[in-house]
Parts: sequence; structure tokens; C-alpha cells
Amino acid sequence: TTRVGILTAGGDSPGLNAAIRGFGKAAIGTYGMELIGFRDGMRGLAENRYIPLDSQALSGILTVGGTILGTSRDKVHKMVVDGAVKDMIPTIKKNYEKDRLDALVCLGGGGTAKNAKRLADAGMNVITLPKTIDNDLVGTDQTFGFATALEIATEAIDRLHSTAHSHHRIILTEIMGHRAGWLALGAGIAGGADVILLPEVPYNVESIAETIKRRRSHGSNFSVIAVAEGARDERDAAQLAAADALVREAGSPEARDAAKAHRANVEASHRAHTFTLAGELEKATGLESRVTILGYVQRGGTPSGRDRMLATVLGTAGADLVAKGVFGVMVASRGEGAEPVPLEEVAGKIRYVPIDHPWIRAAKEVGTGFGD
Ligand code: F6P
Repeated sequence: TTRVGILTAGGDSPGLNAAIRGFGKAAIGTYGMELIGFRDGMRGLAENRYIPLDSQALSGILTVGGTILGTSRDKVHKMVVDGAVKDMIPTIKKNYEKDRLDALVCLGGGGTAKNAKRLADAGMNVITLPKTIDNDLVGTDQTFGFATALEIATEAIDRLHSTAHSHHRIILTEIMGHRAGWLALGAGIAGGADVILLPEVPYNVESIAETIKRRRSHGSNFSVIAVAEGARDERDAAQLAAADALVREAGSPEARDAAKAHRANVEASHRAHTFTLAGELEKATGLESRVTILGYVQRGGTPSGRDRMLATVLGTAGADLVAKGVFGVMVASRGEGAEPVPLEEVAGKIRYVPIDHPWIRAAKEVGTGFGD
């Protein structure tokens, strides 16, 4: 029998359990495979901590949020073990052989694709399924988790609208998306935000203030602003872009690590930007401002119907690929179905919102400001 290991890695997102179930039911029921589930992402894989997954274990999890397996953000080639950073790929390879695995299925986002590629390069049969509420993976039409997070963030904007209106305030809602602004853009459109700020469009405080003042002159004495976590004003965006360039241009692994540490510092120094912006807008418009950070509510809880469907389609398609012996790929969502995309086309890449994207055009045509 074919033996398969499955794990969930990176930030959790709604639909992970639905995908585990989809993969597992097809693997066991349709193909007669054996399945084990590693705990806590790459960490459990390196420590060989797993549980057997039979049909019973897969029952009743379709609607459950989070991941029954646990997750972590560990990197396979740089894992902190007993206080020291270690390359755990050789250990993982040994575990893979000891557990007599024929394939490994990794559910995750960009970081997981990179880890999976490293394992595939070391000779393991790996496939990935695209999960992230950020929807920022290349090669796939969508990622599961995004649709649910979009509903949650939209509802939050709706609720903030009525209180902003009652108090004649500006309310800034910070929405997840540290690199790409898909979630803030989608929820901003769906919730009718007056201004949407994205990492892809550096903002200018004056321009946002103008939009708010224009609204006031038309009788709307309040505004709701959807701010992506990674949105920055022009100056901060330029500093981050310079730090990104240093990472890209680093000549050695050491220089790259140093450049990444520098980038993290630059990013950290900009972290309170939503609060800074609230203060600046209050001063520029005379309207009281408040900030709501949506945070982890966007990642928690039961997946939407759409995410359950997507996770089931991708999970079962993953089992079909393992049965066919297709490895080194991400199971991408394509139209209503699924299709394998080589990991090298996915790993280390980010799908940003193109500034001429139809969603941006639509938002502009209904009068939404982007602070540009
Ligand atoms: O990657 C998904 C994401 O939701 C990002 O938008 C966010 O910056 C990040 O997770 C934060 O998660 P954590 O605190 O788990 O690292």
C-alpha cells in the first residue's frame, strides 16, 4: 500500500481541516492508501511526531476551524533545535524513509511552498495545497481561507460603518495582508469602504484627507478606511522597497540573512502605521479617528461554504495526483477544477494585486479612494 504523510504549516486558515478530510477520504476510500498526519507542521515532521489518520479521524472535521494537526512557522533548513539553528532536511529524509512514506502532502502558503521545494530537491515526493487568507500565492486562481476571511472582514466593515456614522468619526480597520492587499481590497469593496489602502499602492495622507473632506462637503460626516496590514505611506514604502532590494541583491547567504534582518527592522519600525495615520487624519480633517485591528478573528472559526468546496476540490485532486505519481507540484485551483503547477514556479514568489486589476478599477468607479 501507498503510505502518505500530511501536514499543515504556516499561519492557520479556515478550510485546512476540510482539505485534510478531502485528501484523506479520497486517499483512503478511493485509492486504498494509508495516511499519517504530522503534528505542528515542519516541526513535527522533523521530530517524527505523527498520528495515524483513518476514516474515523477524518469524520466530523469538515466544518471545524483551525487545523486538527496543529501548525508552526518552522523552516526545514533553519530550525531552532535546543537553542541552535539546524538544517533538519537530513533528519526529515530519515524520518520519511523510516515511516516508509511514498509521498508527503503539505498544506500551506508561500513559506510552505519554499519548504516543500527544499524537501522535493532532497529527493522526497512532495505536493502542496494552497492555503492562506492572504490569497497571495502565484500559480493558483485562489487559495482556501481567503473566502472565509473576506466574509469576516466584510461583516466587520459593515458593523464599523454604523458606529462611524453615529459618531461622525473616521474608523480605520486594519485587515490582514502583510505583503499583498487582496483581503483589504476585497473586503473594502464588499463593505463599501470609502478609502482602501494597499501595500501595492503607497499612500499620501493629504490625498486621503482630501477624499474625507470631499465626502464631508457632500454631507457624509464620517468615513471608513480599510487598511491592509502592509500598507505604507510613500516614505515608508520607499524605505521598505530599498530594504527589499538589498535582500534581492545580497551576494552570499550571510549577506542575505543580514539584509533580511535589516528588512525586518525597517518593517517593525513602521508597524504602528495605522495608528500614526489615524492621528494624522484627525489633525488634517478635524474628525475624530479610531482604529480597529481585526487581527486573528479573520483566521479563526468555521470555513465558508466556498472555502469548504475549494478545499475539498483541491484535497481530492491532491489524492488523484499522488495516485498518478505526480510530485513536486502545488495543486492549483483553476476555474472550477484543479491543476498541478511545478513548485519552482510557486516557491519564493508573491502574487501582488496588479494596480490595473479589475477590482481596483471597480472600486475607483464607485468612488473609493486609494490615497494615491
Ligand atoms: O500569512 C497570513 C497572515 O494572515 C498575514 O497576513 C499576517 O501578517 C500573518 O499571517 C500574521 O500571522 P502570525 O502572527 O501567525 O505570524
